[in-house]
Amino acid sequence: MVHYYITKNPTFFLVLAWLTCSCSSWSSRTSNPYVRQACSVTLYQQLCIRSLSPFSSAARNHPTRWARAGVSVSIGEAKNVVAYLAKARKRNPMRGRNRIALSDCVECIQDSLDNLHKSLGVLRKLSTKTFNTQMGDVITWLSAALTDGDTCLDGFEESKEQVNTLRRKVMNVTHITSNALAIVNKLATTGPQALLVSP
Ligand SMILES: *[C@@H]1O[C@H](CO)[C@@H](O)[C@H](O)[C@H]1NC(C)=O
Repeated sequence: MVHYYITKNPTFFLVLAWLTCSCSSWSSRTSNPYVRQACSVTLYQQLCIRSLSPFSSAARNHPTRWARAGVSVSIGEAKNVVAYLAKARKRNPMRGRNRIALSDCVECIQDSLDNLHKSLGVLRKLSTKTFNTQMGDVITWLSAALTDGDTCLDGFEESKEQVNTLRRKVMNVTHITSNALAIVNKLATTGPQALLVSP
């Protein structure tokens, strides 16, 4: 029966071909048009679409909601990295230069989290009168959060597996934050009338 199904049913091969096609083009074809639109201004679009898709039905075409979603995802991922660093430090302490780099990195990510939280706070209470100042603050803080991620990776010696994993995770947060900054920049250029469409 199964054999018959596999050999005689052309749909099976079509489905198989569809499943094995490239993951990235699959995700961009099946993703919601709102999230594709919101992510169109970002540098890491596939990552943007993957991480922001869950917000599609709530954010739709509201630029302020996408800005908040972008920063929220960045906060979540930065918290993951902090938790990973804390665990890694306990389980498998690094030595020498990497040990110092690791504690510097923790400080940087904490600082980055502060900046992300401040940004989200302001994005939650935007007003048409203070819009430009508020957006200026948010852009400054998000840029600082981006720099913190780079600074975190500065001090490590290459080649250790543990360092490579950490690098991948921190780069991920950096890319997600870069995407959030691009979405926020777009909101800033839209101007206060973005708030008239929706809060
Ligand atoms: C990068 O972030 C995304 C979105 O939060 C997450 O799903 C993914 O697992 C992360 N990848 C790595 C390598 O940490």
